[in-house]
Amino acid sequence: MKLLIINGPNLNMLSKRSQEHYGELTLKQLNNQVRRYAKDRGISCQFYQSSYEGDIINKLEHAKVNGIILNAGALSHYSYAIRDCIECIDIPVVEVHLSDINAREDFRKVRVFDGVVAQLYSGGKQESYFRAVDYYKELFK
Ligand code: DQA
Repeated sequence: MKLLIINGPNLNMLSKRSQEHYGELTLKQLNNQVRRYAKDRGISCQFYQSSYEGDIINKLEHAKVNGIILNAGALSHYSYAIRDCIECIDIPVVEVHLSDINAREDFRKVRVFDGVVAQLYSGGKQESYFRAVDYYKELFK
């Protein structure tokens, strides 16, 4: 099984952003932890980061994997274009967030991917990504 992990705007700045919300890991360290966690479960991972909505849409549209884990950052709260894209591709998408989006500012409680993603994991820092890997492990067992 192969998964694509997409991280959106400002997630390349992890470790320089609020550590209270996002933890201490750099994106590279986070990706390495996710890669190891998935590998131990027989799953291989590709990683992609972009701060551009259109690039994320292109990546989603051309993905050739069994499942996608998406942390679209702030785009999760307002990108109807990414929502439409998720709706029209045939690959399941699991939405993840490092921080608990329901325990922060009101604008972060708005989830425009609700209804088109297969699952949401929020607030567990790197554990949110691990839970998404577990979701696919169970889905494709
Ligand atoms: C985030 C939460 C978003 O509200 C924020 O804009 C991010 C990161 C998270 O992983 O907790 O950039 O997606």
